Amino acid sequence: MSSSPSVGAETTRAAPIQRPTAAGGSRFGVRISGSGSAIPQTRLTNKDLEQLMDTTDEWITQRTGIRTRHVFKHDLGETTARLATQASMAAVADAGLSPSDIDLVIVASMTPDAPTPSVSCMVSSALGTQKAGAMDINAACSGFVYCMNVAHDLIRGGSYRNVLVIGADRITRHVDFSTYGRATAVLFGDGAGAVVLRRTDDDTKGLIAQAMFSDGSGAKHLYIPASKADFPDGDAFEERKIGFVQMNGSAVFKFAVGTFSRLIEQTLESAGIGPTDVDHYVCHQSNARILEAARERFGLPPEKLHVNIDRYGNTVAASVPLVFDEIRRAGRVREGHKVMFLAFGAGLTWGSSLWQV
Ligand code: UT7
Repeated sequence: MSSSPSVGAETTRAAPIQRPTAAGGSRFGVRISGSGSAIPQTRLTNKDLEQLMDTTDEWITQRTGIRTRHVFKHDLGETTARLATQASMAAVADAGLSPSDIDLVIVASMTPDAPTPSVSCMVSSALGTQKAGAMDINAACSGFVYCMNVAHDLIRGGSYRNVLVIGADRITRHVDFSTYGRATAVLFGDGAGAVVLRRTDDDTKGLIAQAMFSDGSGAKHLYIPASKADFPDGDAFEERKIGFVQMNGSAVFKFAVGTFSRLIEQTLESAGIGPTDVDHYVCHQSNARILEAARERFGLPPEKLHVNIDRYGNTVAASVPLVFDEIRRAGRVREGHKVMFLAFGAGLTWGSSLWQV
């Protein structure tokens, strides 16, 4: 991988955050009314990985915090659309709705089952919506957060009433489970998470602040080459890398630590609140050390910044909704809470979504 300077520096700019879109200026608020998740049946422990490659449970646990992850199996029919559908069924039921109430399906994914049809079309049909609109958005690990922002504003604008937002990825399709691929193989897992966003007359509910950013100059740090032409300058072409995740781990690590801090600061500033005013930080799970750095930086107690990477690894766009569904189902997200969703990922992309729930 190339050893170019940290992309963190490129993201230190005092970027103007998107203006808050919450209360005031619209007749409608937006409520997070239901959530659901789905993970493949097959669990791979660090000990299992020791059998597949030259690695150790100790190395993986200490460097990443990951202990197990779930991986799809073709012969169990675990496609991206199937996982997304399972998560969606749970979310729609949790919201007390039927699929025919959903009028738009938005899926965040960078691993659709095929270039077309979209995952969202397959989910919409499998659920049995009444021909709801359907679209996929690829912002890698930031995808779900981006989709929350997009869905919110479509509802607040008055065009949609009930929007299903899903994060679903089968990233282990692009993982080389051998010693050659060990630097990335140990990090990833598969899954899907979904929420139902509903229009409400209570206009205090919804986004307080949001942000979406990208920096394509950092694309070289995290990519999946489809052909020789996709190798960035400085990365030697190797046939066996085609189709597999390539990552400059230390560059992404530095980017992530810096980005999380700045994103939290900017989002809080935009909302005019302090770090401890937020009840839940629902962050992309890519490395426990990255999450811990953010937690320490803002002096947050562990019960405010949630970590489940130990059980799922990095599930790309599914990562944020998997955390949210877990804490919501545990009864930890309550009426009146403030919830900040945060993610960063390939592209590079990063974004936040701060909600009054
Ligand atoms: O959503 C996508 C975003 N991705 C991320 O956020 C990932 C960010 N980066 C990271 O989390 C960390 O950089 C990693 C966990 C990927 C790597 O941790 P690190 O502390 O930066 O390790 P390293 O890459 O510097 O590697 C240290 C050593 C190397 O050996 P030498 O050169 O010191 O002899 C690696 O070859 O660890 C070796 N190594 C491994 N050893 C055992 C790399 N992977 C493994 C492995 N098992 N799986």
